[in-house]
Amino acid sequence: MPFSDIPTERLFRFRELLGLSDLTENPLARWGEVLGARPDDFADRIQGFVKEAPQLRIIQDNLPDPAKLRRNWAEWFTGLFRQGLGEELLTRLWRSGQAHVAYNVDHRLISMAYALARAYLHERVAASLPAADAPGVLRSIDALIDFSLLVETDAYVTFATRCELDVIQGIAHQVRNPIAVIGGQARRLIRLHSQDADVAEAAQIVLEEAGRLDALARSVTRYMDVTDREPVAEATVLTPLLHTVLARIASLPDRPKAVLNVDIAPEADRLAVAPADLDALLAALLDNAVRYAAPGDPRVTVRCQPSEGRPGFAKLTIDNTGQTLSAEELTRIFSPFHSTDPMATGMGLAMAKAITRKYSGGIAMGLLSGGTRCVVTLPQAPAAAV
Ligand code: HEM
Repeated sequence: MPFSDIPTERLFRFRELLGLSDLTENPLARWGEVLGARPDDFADRIQGFVKEAPQLRIIQDNLPDPAKLRRNWAEWFTGLFRQGLGEELLTRLWRSGQAHVAYNVDHRLISMAYALARAYLHERVAASLPAADAPGVLRSIDALIDFSLLVETDAYVTFATRCELDVIQGIAHQVRNPIAVIGGQARRLIRLHSQDADVAEAAQIVLEEAGRLDALARSVTRYMDVTDREPVAEATVLTPLLHTVLARIASLPDRPKAVLNVDIAPEADRLAVAPADLDALLAALLDNAVRYAAPGDPRVTVRCQPSEGRPGFAKLTIDNTGQTLSAEELTRIFSPFHSTDPMATGMGLAMAKAITRKYSGGIAMGLLSGGTRCVVTLPQAPAAAV
């Protein structure tokens, strides 16, 4: 795997959090001969654990070269005293997380193996180091093991999620072709049998349902794209984006001509949310507000101001005049596929929640007298330099 594919910035942050980034040389290097002299001994310790856990043993026994695992453990162990915290160790650990997903190794047992590694090294320190040196060396050992496990876990979580995302994305993508064929055939039936009311009616229903499935597949793809994208705390100006999104919604078919009221406080007009994510969030929330605004009096009000409860965050409020929800429905409104409208996909608000969560913000929906209110908190970006 090329080093550029590894999220080095995030991993170097772990290193910094563990107080390891200021070190110019590996703190364990001078203890290599005393502590790192018996890598086979260490490999035996992990091997003993693997032998006792049937689900690990079966993985090892089925490898073309079962001894490869012992070599991996021994190399990591010697690397602790030689390589230090550079790219080589990072790459190896990242690849190990990926391998552990590929071979379906239970991550709880990987954590256990690292706990055994720590215990082994602590024992070696107690047995062979002068008491005065021990505390500093133990701190370095703990930091290096924590760092190793963090990098491995990061890779494990990334690849495990990646596999699930790929399956879901794949299904959403694959079903669109048959749906298009079904819709096309329904249209053909309507054209060829326009005189036969029963056939035309049945074909129309098939066509509408195909349209619904297509919208669902597209919204699942959008939801997965949002989940997949890393959050980027890029400064985005809210007002122009808001108007672009509102114009896009107004051009959609079947949307009521709602009266819009926008009031953005200048000090809350810059949000630390990537434009693509803010666009998707606004599109989901505003389309909902416009679509379900009271038919006789469709009004939508958007406000944004600094949050009083959360310094550094902005509070975006979207009110509409419609009230199509009960208090009970409010509790489930952000669940995927949940909608009170049979023609909706139920993914819009779930996606909005995923975006706010990604940026450590929040979202809540409440009832007003004669309307509905959605409140979103999002991180503010620092004011632009003048
Ligand atoms: C302290 C604990 C562990 C460490 C430091 C560790 C480290 C590693 C490393 C460095 C690799 C090779 C990555 C590469 O360069 O491609 C690897 C691969 C692998 N590990 Fe682990 N591992 C640990 C625990 C375990 C355990 C408990 C299992 C259980 C069976 C396991 C199963 C595997 C498998 C199946 C592979 C892929 C085989 C291969 O090397 O081709 N590991 N691990």
